[in-house]
Amino acid sequence: MKPSIYITRKLPDECVLELQEKFDVKMWDHEEISVPREVLFSEIEEVDALFTVVSDPVTEELLAKAKNLRVVANMAVGYDNIDIEAATKRGIYVCNTPDVLTETTADLTFALLLAAARRVVEAAEFIKEGKWQSWSPFLLAGHDVYQKTIGICGMGKIGEAVARRAKGFGMEILYHNRSRKPQAEQVIGAKYCSFDELIEKSDFVVALAPLTAETKHMFNADVFKKMKHSALFINASRGAVADEASLYDALVDKQIAGAGLDVFEQEPISADHPLLKLANVTALPHIGSASIDTRRAMIHICVENIQRILTGQEPKTLVNTQLLER
Ligand code: DGY
Repeated sequence: MKPSIYITRKLPDECVLELQEKFDVKMWDHEEISVPREVLFSEIEEVDALFTVVSDPVTEELLAKAKNLRVVANMAVGYDNIDIEAATKRGIYVCNTPDVLTETTADLTFALLLAAARRVVEAAEFIKEGKWQSWSPFLLAGHDVYQKTIGICGMGKIGEAVARRAKGFGMEILYHNRSRKPQAEQVIGAKYCSFDELIEKSDFVVALAPLTAETKHMFNADVFKKMKHSALFINASRGAVADEASLYDALVDKQIAGAGLDVFEQEPISADHPLLKLANVTALPHIGSASIDTRRAMIHICVENIQRILTGQEPKTLVNTQLLER
């Protein structure tokens, strides 16, 4: 019997052709609807490999149902949707998709920063809604980006790629991270600083840290209070690194000037969410890595990782590397 794979989202046929040649592949039939939990709970029982996306919580309870599962290939660099400890305990490999999405996600992060600063989305809606009556000096006037200070919180590969873009805008670049990044300091001129210094000095505070127990709600009411009144908060990592209720209050009370958000605590966010009612919020539906080429590359890595594990080879991008040491 061929090993079997379950894919939790409909992917283009050509992307899974390779898998179909060698394995029994089953795929959820919808592109924009998550696989229902009961379907996933039933499918996971027999499969050897699971291909997941960020909106699939892979919990201890789900993994406990799996009798043959050897790999979870998650189509994202982030893996906070997966209980890594529970997978590792069961000897299940967890793979992600780093590197291929770095530049694409940095592009979107910087686009979001520019859009929030210069009110691009608001202005585009304004003209389409027929509200433009005449040119006026402060119509939709926003904030300059050029030569301002950017504070990048979470200086991984995407953080460094954002810093490179900021350098092109003549920005002063501050960063905070668990470890120092000598390369970014020497080549890009980024300056390491404490979290407090970063939030106090930055005109643009950019959240790019992965979501962990430590980073959950690291942007809270106290933090927003310490930011400049003219500052903009940009989040392209995970919604839950910010406490959304406090962010909402900070935006309404004008403690900060605005926010650019690609991610939310609860996704998909409802159109009725109070944050989406604010003119000073530029919101996007978690499209950081969403270019056609990059999404294809991410699928390709997942497919390759699954193939490698099911044929006894080392995966390319393993998260729980301790499994290789066993
Ligand atoms: C990631 O890769 O973690 C992104 O957020 C998903 O597009």
